[in-house]
Amino acid sequence: MSDAPAGASEGGESSGGRVGVIGAGYVGLVTGVCLASLGNRVVLRDIDTSKVEALNRGDVPIYEPGLEALMAEHRDRLEYTLSLDRMLERSDILFVAVDTPPTYSGDADLSRVMRVLDELEASGADARHLLVMKSTVPVGTGERVRAELDARGLGRVGYCSNPEFLKEGAAIADFLNPDRVVVGDFSAEDGDRLAALYAPLGAPVMRTSVPSAEMVKYASNAFLATKISFINEIANVCEEVGADVAVVAEGMGLDKRIGPAFLHAGVGFGGSCFPKDVAALKQLAGNSGYHFQLLTSVIEVNELQKRRVINKLKKHLGSLEGRRVALLGLAFKPGTDDMREASSLVLAGRLLAEGSDVTAYDPVVADLGDRLAAVRLCASASGALEGADAAVLVTEWPSIVGLDWRALRGTMATPVLIDGRNALDPRSMLEAGFVFEGIGRLPDSVRPT
Ligand SMILES: NC(=O)c1ccc[n+]([C@@H]2O[C@H](COP(=O)([O-])OP(=O)(O)OC[C@H]3O[C@@H](n4cnc5c(N)ncnc54)[C@H](O)[C@@H]3O)[C@@H](O)[C@H]2O)c1
Repeated sequence: MSDAPAGASEGGESSGGRVGVIGAGYVGLVTGVCLASLGNRVVLRDIDTSKVEALNRGDVPIYEPGLEALMAEHRDRLEYTLSLDRMLERSDILFVAVDTPPTYSGDADLSRVMRVLDELEASGADARHLLVMKSTVPVGTGERVRAELDARGLGRVGYCSNPEFLKEGAAIADFLNPDRVVVGDFSAEDGDRLAALYAPLGAPVMRTSVPSAEMVKYASNAFLATKISFINEIANVCEEVGADVAVVAEGMGLDKRIGPAFLHAGVGFGGSCFPKDVAALKQLAGNSGYHFQLLTSVIEVNELQKRRVINKLKKHLGSLEGRRVALLGLAFKPGTDDMREASSLVLAGRLLAEGSDVTAYDPVVADLGDRLAAVRLCASASGALEGADAAVLVTEWPSIVGLDWRALRGTMATPVLIDGRNALDPRSMLEAGFVFEGIGRLPDSVRPT
């Protein structure tokens, strides 16, 4: 039920809708800025004072290519506030984009989502408002939220599930050109309102029930993570039998039933989504009495994969105690400053436990906070590599892949280079004089040019 259409405008300044976004993190900020770029007036509300202050100064609190420019271009339609009342007053469709981190059990922590319900009750959301869940939440959450809204006298507030599939580093393009928009609703009228907001994108909109929409998100991430763990196991077997996983993946990917995406062997997946979403789906299944055996293996393979680099280093250096190892790239993938569940954290932790002296460089991560205080963060790749006994390429930033490796080799104490992302050309690295290993790419299996 809605008293105002999604396209209601404010003061005649915009012909688009009035949108609120609760949570101005990676997803919320991109969602808000992209919806503003489509002509909507957007109020972003966060509880983090420093974040809201930064946004009001025009600073972007995260590294996401293109975001700052798009934010500046549409600043007239964007507002940042700590006040939920203000947001409710000026918005009709309310996206929830708060964090849903893992608990110790692996289940998704829904405390932020539940806090939003407390706040909406206290502030008095009403029939104008349509609550849209963008946060990744376990199947059943929408039904729980619907029941909570009803029990709190917010029965006329609408509800839709609208999972987000953007990738950090390409978030704006992903949001504006999605493969699909998934809209799960309890009432067709609510779904219609949300679908109308996305109409300018011209993307396929899939309409379904709330539980199915919630499951599409988990199943998609779990499938992509499974592809990664699968190719990592193939890489490990390649190392045993003398095949080259890059060639194998290329050959597999040419099969249209398989496709080339997510078939890049490496040091395992990390980030704010895959590890927690795979764990949450496994827990969700377990809580409902089903043992999701495949996902248990996907997680285990991923954990072991991060540690395989340590054995590669030991193969060339013997004991790692007192050895200096340089980690190149720290963010969980290129194009972001996000360090959540980054493989670099596990690697650095293992190396420190082995007694290594760890240096590190990342083009955008300039502060490890209280994580891994013993790691020496350098301002340049050459600073991290100077005097190192070995280097590990952990995040395939183009600026790292494109380094003058031949020149840098001479600055290292021992030229051992492990390419944890199979981003470097093995032949060139061998010719440059490195003792080189990729993942599943034995030097003698490199394809003849
Ligand atoms: N990061 C991704 O690539 C990605 C992609 C798809 C889906 N998701 C999902 O989107 C959700 C958000 O992820 P994120 O990476 O943007 O998280 P984030 O931690 O970057 O941002 C969450 C924001 O919500 C704010 N917040 C918490 N409680 C609040 C409240 N009551 N009111 C207002 N703000 C509040 C926090 O201060 C923070 O700024 C998660 O469920 C995640 O799984 C993330």
